[in-house]
Amino acid sequence: MDLSLIRSLLEAPVPVRALESVDSTNRAAKDWALEGAPHGACVLAARQTKGRGRLGRQFFSPPGGLYMSVILRLPQKQVPGLTALAAVAVCRAAAETAGAELLIKWVNDLLLQGRKVAGILAEGTGSGEGDRAIVVGVGVNAAPAEFPPELRANAGSLQLPPTPGAKERLAAAIVNHLLRFSRPGQPFMDEYRSRCVTLGRDVRISAETGSGTEGLAVGVDDAGALLVRTASGLVRVVSGEASIRLLDGSYA
Ligand code: BTN
Repeated sequence: MDLSLIRSLLEAPVPVRALESVDSTNRAAKDWALEGAPHGACVLAARQTKGRGRLGRQFFSPPGGLYMSVILRLPQKQVPGLTALAAVAVCRAAAETAGAELLIKWVNDLLLQGRKVAGILAEGTGSGEGDRAIVVGVGVNAAPAEFPPELRANAGSLQLPPTPGAKERLAAAIVNHLLRFSRPGQPFMDEYRSRCVTLGRDVRISAETGSGTEGLAVGVDDAGALLVRTASGLVRVVSGEASIRLLDGSYA
């Protein structure tokens, strides 16, 4: 990682740490946040040995991908929509720096040609008013990696331009969009909805709040919750996983 290139591309003078290898950039960023790192501070790593995914999963993080975590210090009312905000920030950055129009599978999966090429994990840290922060972790599969068997069917890679500094440009664009969108009143939910492949599909929710819900995904509200029309009425799903019903009746 060319740290000085990233710094030169950032629109705000935020501190950036770049590591060769780390267990998880989210873990490192949470520790840094507790030490007082400011809004926008960012940790990048060339690889992770214990990359974290949502729902307690691991995030496969070999060399070649982009693994980064950004510390955000925001009013509590902005926190519920943060994963959606980050998803749109990554979509914009991928379009600008790799010419790729990503789609979003609610809530945090970023797809290219139906394959997951990136994911987002937002985690809170701190307890008191003064030290509270949200760490937004972004992992992008950016090399034609050999995925482990359990990921092979659904994972893909974002093809970066074969020019020096392409990954740095992607990383800086993600930070810039995250910081821009996190200013109060920035509209990003309409773009989230227009990129969201879950909308208009029959879904089954597994894990967390909406577990067991089945119905038609009819909307995403401004806090990023999925609205599912079921046989017994409208259900607002705040977290969990929405599998999409396929033509053969199975869910993926
Ligand atoms: C998911 O798809 O379930 C979320 C994946 C988030 C992965 C990123 S990689 C950088 C940051 N550090 C982590 O340990 N996880 C996030």
